[in-house]
Amino acid sequence: IAPLVGRLSKLGPPGELAATLVTRLVGAGAARGGPEIPQAVGSISAVVGQAFFVPLYELFLTYGGIFRLNFGPKSFLIVSDPGIAKHILRENSKAYSKGILAEILEFVMGTGLIPADGEVWRVRRRAIVPALHQKYVTAMIGLFGEASDRLCQKLDKAASDGEDVEMESLFSRLTLDVIGKAVFNYDFDSLSYDNGIVEAVYVTLREAEMRSTSPIPTWEIPIWKDISPRQKKVNEALKLINTTLDELIAICKRLVEQEDLQFHDEYMNEQDPSILHFLLASGDDVSSKQLRDDLMTMLIAGHETSAAVLTWTFYLLSKYPKVMAKLQDEVDSILGDGLPTIEDVKKLKYTTRVINESLRLYPQPPVLIRRSLEDDMLGGYPIGRGEDIFISVWNLHHCPKHWDDAEVFNPERWPLDGPNPNEINQNFSYLPFGGGPRKCVGDMFATFETVVATAMLVKRFDFQMAPGAPPVDMTTGATIHTTEGLKMTVTRRTKPPVIPNLEMKVVSDSQELTRTPSM
Ligand code: HEM
Repeated sequence: IAPLVGRLSKLGPPGELAATLVTRLVGAGAARGGPEIPQAVGSISAVVGQAFFVPLYELFLTYGGIFRLNFGPKSFLIVSDPGIAKHILRENSKAYSKGILAEILEFVMGTGLIPADGEVWRVRRRAIVPALHQKYVTAMIGLFGEASDRLCQKLDKAASDGEDVEMESLFSRLTLDVIGKAVFNYDFDSLSYDNGIVEAVYVTLREAEMRSTSPIPTWEIPIWKDISPRQKKVNEALKLINTTLDELIAICKRLVEQEDLQFHDEYMNEQDPSILHFLLASGDDVSSKQLRDDLMTMLIAGHETSAAVLTWTFYLLSKYPKVMAKLQDEVDSILGDGLPTIEDVKKLKYTTRVINESLRLYPQPPVLIRRSLEDDMLGGYPIGRGEDIFISVWNLHHCPKHWDDAEVFNPERWPLDGPNPNEINQNFSYLPFGGGPRKCVGDMFATFETVVATAMLVKRFDFQMAPGAPPVDMTTGATIHTTEGLKMTVTRRTKPPVIPNLEMKVVSDSQELTRTPSM
């Protein structure tokens, strides 16, 4: 094989390209003198027109925990085996980068924490993780409650007016309002009205999603990218977001300078508990561009994911009335009339299981993307440097061999008195927040946020699919969206009867009487 590579290199193609050609001619395993990874054969048309991870599931059942998929000149390894996922994400994580993901997201996240690799990632992760300390996440419970309460008021009005509501876009607004305040102390207030900045965020997000699913990168074509109306709009949106972020950073810097600051591990400014404030107060020595990239990354990472979790949770609850009834029983017995506290949230164990199980059936994102930086062995097969890999969390979470009744929404599969399921205690068969050194930094934040929102909404309302609502099918961006929204009928729950006071005042015929009801 090596001479073939050498000869091809002499004939023209540079070394790496020659190696790729050889790999494609004889197979990667043979090229390295090992067994060959199963190669899926199928038509590309099977993948087009539906969420791409769905046909990957069928291929997983046929070809197993690791197989190769070819798309024209491109080739991907699809991993659906917990042991191999653990090897890539944890045991040998240094040998893998974010690959295509970093390339696609560069225009919006730059070298923010999600796409960053190597030393940049190490330094930024060390700076950012401490910002999400216990006291911060606990303080955020109030913010989750206030934002969820604003959504309840909106739903209350819809219930009075007898109007159906599209819950997916409302959840997107709820989580945008939360993450803006939590990350850089900005009130998008998108649940109340649309403004330029909210629209700019959505233009940018849709572009990121389009780029991650588009087969042809039109945005890279030199002249097209300058004259295309779509790209112009994206550039304007990015400019507005960047200017706003720069202003917020400048305001926060001034506040920190004026503060009589005593920085410590659980430092938090009560007026502005945001992650930005923590980073500046910690003396984080970083360029404004890097700081902006990190803030933008957290805005996107913490917005669409949580919105998608809530959307699919409410869809599932509408399909499983018994789960909804049990959930409402728990919430009724724990939440009072005020906003939830951290003590309440800890007691909402069944609500937490509902979120755990929703994340199993609809993982956000449904695949994790990596690229090998060196030769490695995966599941007994040798692989080369430069392999693009999709770890299908969808396949891991739906695997019929691993899960009893894998397609059934069953929060009871994890006992309430047991530990919260995570990648460690489920041995990488369950990866709601990834695993290894690149695991989500917002896992606790997101769990509390979705638990608070779900509990507050189901306490006040019943939710049913609206009559004549479009079917709820899946489509992919970075997270799983519905194809046509989640249209629901929301009705106020009838409160349990109030037991009257023994001493009750009744006004009758403009006379004030006091009488004791006969009970
Ligand atoms: C990474 C899921 C909410 C910030 C990740 C990863 C997953 C994930 C699966 C790993 C990606 C990979 O390995 O390629 C989720 C889900 C959320 C959520 C399901 C909501 C339910 C949040 C929130 C924040 C956040 C609220 C910020 C406050 C991040 C960051 C990373 C990340 C910065 C990159 C970490 C690194 O590479 O070091 N998230 N996330 N996420 N998440 Fe989340």
